[in-house]
Amino acid sequence: MSNAMPAWTLTENASLKALNTFHVDASAAQLLELHDPSLLPDVLALPHVADTPLLVLGSGSNVLLADDVPGTVLVFANARIDILEHRADHTLVRAGAGVNWHGLVMWSLQNGLSGLENLALIPGTAGAAPIQNIGAYGVQVDEFIQVVEAWDRQAGEWVRLDAEACQFGYRDSLFKQQPDRYLITAIELRLPLLHHLRLGYAGISEEMQAMGVELPVAADVANAVIALRRRKLPDPDVLGNAGSFFKNPVLPLEQVEVLLQHFPDLPVYPAEQDNRRKLSAAWMIEACGWKGHREGDAGVAPQHALVLVNHGTASGAQLLALARQISASVLEKFGVPIEPEPRLVGAQW
Ligand code: FAD
Ligand code: EPU
Repeated sequence: MSNAMPAWTLTENASLKALNTFHVDASAAQLLELHDPSLLPDVLALPHVADTPLLVLGSGSNVLLADDVPGTVLVFANARIDILEHRADHTLVRAGAGVNWHGLVMWSLQNGLSGLENLALIPGTAGAAPIQNIGAYGVQVDEFIQVVEAWDRQAGEWVRLDAEACQFGYRDSLFKQQPDRYLITAIELRLPLLHHLRLGYAGISEEMQAMGVELPVAADVANAVIALRRRKLPDPDVLGNAGSFFKNPVLPLEQVEVLLQHFPDLPVYPAEQDNRRKLSAAWMIEACGWKGHREGDAGVAPQHALVLVNHGTASGAQLLALARQISASVLEKFGVPIEPEPRLVGAQW
């Protein structure tokens, strides 16, 4: 008998409880784990796969499963990291879709590469990083993306998309706009050799000072970000959650100025466009009294108003019902619509 890893495995009626960080107890009609993505076109053509709807999951840290999944859940298990080339000014790194994101950040630092340090401890896979253009502490992954390799289901062909083609924005991309069209099998990152550390986001410098760091290197920034995140966000292994449940709303400057007349303490941040500003959804939700609120097992984290939590047996539908109440109250108090950040599976917002 061969000990070689199978190229793929298919499990019928599979639980997704460990495959989503809300730990919602949902199931999939079948779960397809693919170790060798070059086989993707063949596997997708199998009759019992081709005939069912397809949902790709990484670690399920940005999904709300509002129902059982009637079709096939595809998980990429290719977890190789390779250095493709060292150049005078950058190193090109390739990560398979199944690579753990935080593991990749730590690997890059251990290999003397910098750039990703502000993105430490974000849960999920490398393959999902481009989907919502993950960002934290003043950095977004699009800065480093050289190529996204994907199977384009609509065209029926392999594509290698550069950052421009990916149409990245704040928590946004081509992939988010056209869900399920592109199955991302690997990403290639360009990590610069001359890198200026990004220390501007509130709390980073203070955290490093408290750690006694005077001349920070990239690993110090990662440690500061990790410490801040551990304090601010609940650990999904302890309390089910999907990070920020709502995106921070981006509004025209004139509307923001009117809001500030009524709510002068509302935190306002720059947006990608000069004539718009990003507002803190957490602040508005807290001002509506939701922080730490609980209805059965669905609740709002006591330490961060933007994070919905599952205290145990909440269903996706219960979490969604709570999210709808929260957004309705923010709309009523501030006149500002807020939208979910995670993908809703089995429901529409
Ligand atoms: P999943 O949740 O499994 O999937 C998310 C979406 O991507 C789905 O639409 C899915 O279909 C699609 N997808 C996944 N893999 C692929 C693929 N290979 N090809 C095509 N489509 C795919 N996000 C941030 O940006 N910044 C943060 O600071 C941050 N903090 C978080 C903190 C916590 C505690 C948690 C739980 C989440 C946080 N998130 C944050 C959200 C989450 O970590 C990211 O969105 C992450 O990229 C999701 O990765 P995943 O592998 O879990 O994707
Ligand atoms: N705030 C409150 N109440 C709270 C929490 C925060 O009023 O309970 C206010 C404070 O004024 C605070 C401000 O909101 O200064 C900003 O808070 P934080 O720094 O935690 O950032 P955020 O806007 O809530 C965003 C991302 C996070 C990312 C952090 C750090 C979105 C939707 N969320 O959160 O990403 O980690 O910045 O960069 O953009 C995620 O996407 O899942 C996620 C966790």
